Amino acid sequence: MSGPNKNYDPVEVAALDPAVIEQDLTAALAAIAAASSLEELKSVRIAHAGERSPLALANREIGALPPSAKAEAGKRVGQARAAVTQALKGRQAQLEVERDERILVEEALDLTAVPGRRPLGRRHPVPLTAERMADVMVGMGWEIAEGPGVEAEWFNFDALNFDTDHPARQMQDTFFVDPADAGLVLRTHTSPVQARSLLERGAPLYVAVPGKTFRTDELDATHTPVFHQMEGLAVDEGLTMAHLKGTLDRLAYGLFGEGITSRLRPAYFPFTEPSAEMDLVCFVCRGEPAATPCRTCGGTGWIEWGGCGMVNHNVLRATGIDPERYQGFAFGMGVERSVMFRNGVADMRELIEGDVRFNAQFGMEI
Ligand code: PHE
Repeated sequence: MSGPNKNYDPVEVAALDPAVIEQDLTAALAAIAAASSLEELKSVRIAHAGERSPLALANREIGALPPSAKAEAGKRVGQARAAVTQALKGRQAQLEVERDERILVEEALDLTAVPGRRPLGRRHPVPLTAERMADVMVGMGWEIAEGPGVEAEWFNFDALNFDTDHPARQMQDTFFVDPADAGLVLRTHTSPVQARSLLERGAPLYVAVPGKTFRTDELDATHTPVFHQMEGLAVDEGLTMAHLKGTLDRLAYGLFGEGITSRLRPAYFPFTEPSAEMDLVCFVCRGEPAATPCRTCGGTGWIEWGGCGMVNHNVLRATGIDPERYQGFAFGMGVERSVMFRNGVADMRELIEGDVRFNAQFGMEI
C-alpha cells in the first residue's frame, strides 16, 4: 500500500487506474464464466475475490488517496467488486443446479431392475421322483414307512420266506457287512420293511416305503450298485389281485399321466404268491412295431418296472398276522427306472454322475 499523500491522483496509482480495474473485472468475469465445476469456481473466487485478488488489493489503495479522490475510486472499485460477487453468486447457483442434475442421472437407481442372482441349485430327480410316488400313495390314504439301509439278514431274507440256499443270498448279489457272522447286509430291496411294518403296526396296514437299496451290480447303462425302490404293502380283509392292479395303475397315472398302460407277467418271488413282474409300455417306441427293433425295450414294447404279488402266507405268519383273516398285496419298483421312463433318460449313469446340468434339466418341478 502506498503511504498517505494529499495530492494523490488515483490515475497515478496503478492499481486504481480505471483501465486496470476494468481489466481486473473483465478477467474476473471471464474466469467465473469459464469455471466448469464448483471446485474450479472455488479457486476462481480465491483468485478474483479473495484477500489477495487484484480488486481487493486495489481497494486497499483507496485509503492512501486524498479525500477528494476517495469517493470516485471507492465507487469504481466497489462496483467492480460487487459485479464480481454477483457473477460468482450467479455462476455458483448455475453450477449447483448442473451438479444436482448430474447426480440425479449418475446415481439413479432403477428400482425395477432384476438383480443378477446366482443360479439356483436343483434337486436330484431321483429323490424328487420318489417323493412324487410317495405323494400319490399318501393321496390314496397310505402311510410312509422307512427302514435301515444296513439290515438284519433275517428281515432282508428269512422273514420274506427266502430259503437259506436262495441264490439272492449269495455273494454275487448281496453286500454282506463285516464281520461275516454279524448277520447284517446292505438291504437288497425295500421289502424287509414289509416285515418290519407288519411287526410294528399290525393289520390292517397300508404303507409305502421309499428307500435306498444295494446290489453287487457293475455300473452300466441299466444297472447301478446303489439304487432306490418304492415298496408298497397293503394288508387288510378281502384284498385281491384286482386291488393290486388298480393301485399300480393309479401310481402309474400319477407319475406318468394319461395313457401309460401297464401289464403283469407271471413271475416268482419267495414272499409273494402268486407273483408277477410289472411292465410299462416302452417310453421310446410306445409299443409300436418298427423296422429296426427299439434299442430301449429291445423291440418288446415293454419296460420292466418292478415286482409284485399277493403277500405269501408264510410272511404273514412270520409277523404274527392270521392269513385266514387277512390278505395282502405288495409291490416294489425301481425309482431310477421311473425317472428314466418319465424323463426319457436312456443311460442310468447320467443319474449318478452328479452333473449339475442334468439336474437343472430334470430336477425342477413347478
Ligand atoms: N423286492 C422285489 C425286488 O426287489 C420286488 C417286489 C416287491 C416283489 C414286493 C414282490 C413284492 O425285486
